[in-house]
Amino acid sequence: MSAFRTIWPTEDRYVEVIDQRQLPHEWVVVKLKTYTDAEKAIKDMIVRGAPLIGATAAYGIYLAAREMTEQGHEPVFMDEAFNALRNSRPTAVNLFWALDKMRNALKDCPASELVETAWNAAEDIVKEDIETCRMIGVHGLPLIEAIAAKKQGETVNILTHCNAGMLGCIEWGTITSPIYQAVEKGLKVHVWVDETRPRNQGANLTCYELTRHGVHHTLIVDNTGGHLMQHGMVDLVIVGTDRTTRKGDVANKIGTYLKALAANDNNIPFYVALPSTTLDWTISDGLREIPIEERNQDEVKYVVGKSRRSGIMDEVLVCPETTKASNYGFDVTPARLVTALITERGVCPATEEGLLSLFPEHA
Ligand code: MRU
Repeated sequence: MSAFRTIWPTEDRYVEVIDQRQLPHEWVVVKLKTYTDAEKAIKDMIVRGAPLIGATAAYGIYLAAREMTEQGHEPVFMDEAFNALRNSRPTAVNLFWALDKMRNALKDCPASELVETAWNAAEDIVKEDIETCRMIGVHGLPLIEAIAAKKQGETVNILTHCNAGMLGCIEWGTITSPIYQAVEKGLKVHVWVDETRPRNQGANLTCYELTRHGVHHTLIVDNTGGHLMQHGMVDLVIVGTDRTTRKGDVANKIGTYLKALAANDNNIPFYVALPSTTLDWTISDGLREIPIEERNQDEVKYVVGKSRRSGIMDEVLVCPETTKASNYGFDVTPARLVTALITERGVCPATEEGLLSLFPEHA
């Protein structure tokens, strides 16, 4: 589907990723050669987005297996790697899913096969994500088509928050998969992109990938969505998620809840696109049970971008130096505000029954 993937193997079997902190201005590739490189890539948000965080952690375990084998470390080295990666970010559940999957793959694995087994398991996670995201598009496309038909072929206006595109995954993306498939089919689509302060993933990343894919879009500040909805300028909202409970509560980038409230008040469908790897079947109550990441206050106090004057990336202070800022990374949208969930197995209500109808193995 795409000219590039967000994480890929090198000839010498290390892994490379795009430094997403430099986008859209610079294309910088970072090579990960140790598990601590992978941990740093996740912690420092060189990579971000729930599925990509999971894939990076999986390759991190492969790198740990390789380091252990090549440098003759004790087996405890692998436990250290699992722990470090597990603590790299708290909210996206794909991280824990991927690490559990790697642990299972390596259980009872003879030392001589550890590296190869870890490599294959990480590659499987990546391949699975690509196919999963493609299928989210297959199931999400009819929702866009139905609105296009109702509007007799007029442009469908979609609002999104943060980046749940291919940059947060491996290819396709979650919310962008139905959009890319709609555009490929010749539907007229326009995307309102929330800038998504404090780190501006919407402005930097969603706008970047929509531009690359030739999708008509407009950048808006985070507070604009409600106004657009009141004036009939949004047909549907689609967002991604970092963790969704078995009852359909959705954790996503901070500010998602406010968009859901505005959509609800204006009778606009609010969809969440997610791979099943983002479902946390162990919890029900999103507000109480999903850990919300709190990040450094400097992300709020300083805006990062390309300086108009110098043409280089810079940080600009937007408040008095001494002002304190708080920086919650995510919020939880209660299931009652979610019109439906778009998964790789189909579209379902954001309820336990709805989810179990598609994933009966979790009953
Ligand atoms: O802090 P980030 O950039 O990792 O947050 C990412 C999001 O909130 C995405 O919308 C979510 O992970 C879905 S990615 C397909």
